[in-house]
Amino acid sequence: MRYDGLEGKVVVVTGGNSGMGRGIAEGFVAQGAKVIVGDVNGTPLPQVLFHRTDVSQPEQVRALIDFTTASCGRLDVLVNNAGINGALVPLAEQTETGIDAVLGVNLKGVIYGLKYGLLAMTRQRGGVIVNIASVQGMRPIHAGASIYAASKAAVVSLTRSAAHEYGGHGIRVVALAPGPIDTPMLRAADPHGAIVDSVPLQRIGTSNDVAAAVLWLASDAASYVSGVLLPVDGAFMAA
Ligand SMILES: NC(=O)c1ccc[n+]([C@@H]2O[C@H](COP(=O)([O-])OP(=O)(O)OC[C@H]3O[C@@H](n4cnc5c(N)ncnc54)[C@H](O)[C@@H]3O)[C@@H](O)[C@H]2O)c1
Repeated sequence: MRYDGLEGKVVVVTGGNSGMGRGIAEGFVAQGAKVIVGDVNGTPLPQVLFHRTDVSQPEQVRALIDFTTASCGRLDVLVNNAGINGALVPLAEQTETGIDAVLGVNLKGVIYGLKYGLLAMTRQRGGVIVNIASVQGMRPIHAGASIYAASKAAVVSLTRSAAHEYGGHGIRVVALAPGPIDTPMLRAADPHGAIVDSVPLQRIGTSNDVAAAVLWLASDAASYVSGVLLPVDGAFMAA
């Protein structure tokens, strides 16, 4: 399927070496976009530029955006996708190190992506930022994911603030709330696939399901869509 306005666009995907980030990167490549992946681990797709990036480190996120604008001239779309689950243990048993790790990647990583992405997009007067939140920000799935859930709820708040503050610069900021999606992260958290019983559409989602929504949100067809949270969850949150 073609999505208007994505051919030739410069797109950064964080955490694009695995799971849904990889699917999102593949989706943009298939639309003819130039894709830059920032990740700490894994092997990049052959069709993308790779810049090793730990999103919890602000200078590394700034370097990723600088690398993109220096090598491709601009930044049209940023997908803040990198995330970690952290330890699935009850709230009172969360360690300070574990809390810092989850908030460092899932919350501060998105803040740094927004900060440096918005700076680049403000200079060129336009762009789209897609933040990957989670249905868990609204409704717990895995017992013990309280810090993860809080980080994802904060991503929704950041999305609304950024959309509000930067709409006047022609920048759209949106969030996507995936339900259970078949990736290494979900397989580690739910090895027996029990979560499918809570999904009205009675299947686990795929990276392609998420990529299709991200491509639409980034495309010209969604040019009046900003500040929203789009669930891609098989009606998980409606159940
Ligand atoms: N899989 C699900 O069911 C699900 C549901 C809702 C939301 N999410 C969110 O979707 C996003 C992608 O998750 P996934 O399921 O594809 O997970 P995944 O573990 O398959 O992939 C995550 C990627 O992020 C990278 N990453 C981790 N820490 C990083 C860091 N500090 N800097 C840069 N990259 C880093 C990893 O190396 C990996 O390539 C995450 O934000 C996750 O919270 C996942």
